[in-house]
Amino acid sequence: TSPAQASNASDNPLVVAHRGASAYAPENTLAAVDKAAKMGFRWVENDVQRTKDGELVVLHDASLARTTNVEEVFPGRAPWNVRDFTAAEVARLDAGSWFDSRYAGARVPTLKQYMNRVSHNHQKLVLEIKNPALYPGIERETLKVLSNEGWLSPAHLKNSLVVQSFSADTVRTVHQLRPGVKTAFLGTPAVTDLSEYAAFADQINASYTTISRGYVAAIQAFNGPHGKPMEILTWTVDDADNARRVAGYGVDGIITNKPDVVRAATES
Ligand code: G3P
Ligand code: CA
Repeated sequence: TSPAQASNASDNPLVVAHRGASAYAPENTLAAVDKAAKMGFRWVENDVQRTKDGELVVLHDASLARTTNVEEVFPGRAPWNVRDFTAAEVARLDAGSWFDSRYAGARVPTLKQYMNRVSHNHQKLVLEIKNPALYPGIERETLKVLSNEGWLSPAHLKNSLVVQSFSADTVRTVHQLRPGVKTAFLGTPAVTDLSEYAAFADQINASYTTISRGYVAAIQAFNGPHGKPMEILTWTVDDADNARRVAGYGVDGIITNKPDVVRAATES
């Protein structure tokens, strides 16, 4: 399948490739985005953080140590947090070899580079603002990059982008800054608190270990900030049994490192 043909149109629930197709290519790299597209998956998820000089980059951990060769390139700069490195320094790192030597030379993408590739592949994005307490102002900066790259156009806002965070304050801030953006809170709020979240979150995206059929129904019974039923995507489901279980609960989407496994388990 070429990237242009990648489609989740028939998925029910929607299948989202977590950090890209991260079981098969190094997480949060352009290679993982391309791998998802080649496998036929239009929706990908990523994580956004910030360098010392203010560049937004796509990386899961606050530290570069697990997924790059930063310890070799910059010995003595433990704990190798991305916020202590400039964008030029981060651009020198190898973000692929740790996963497989075939991916040697893969880079930590800037958010701008990442958006360009997702656009090129005709893909759609669940963007996570990671560790926002470390990066004051990252909500506005993220929206700025998305705007510059054309991702806040009416067509994109309709069905190509969700911005999510474990921080309710960050989700609320994104909603207030750009009310047209679809948002998600990451976590499992008490059912009694869902009405508060419905004011600023279109989705509640919860760990699959925390949900039940009743919880899914409780979320979907609320209307979100855009007047449509709230949705629930659940993560991170990598096996067929749990994929079938949560699909049976009626979740709207499944976020997975193994999108092929989840699609095969849930397609009818
Ligand atoms: O998209 C949900 C999931 O990514 C949240 O957990 O740690 O993988 O970012 P984490
Ligand atoms: Ca994430």
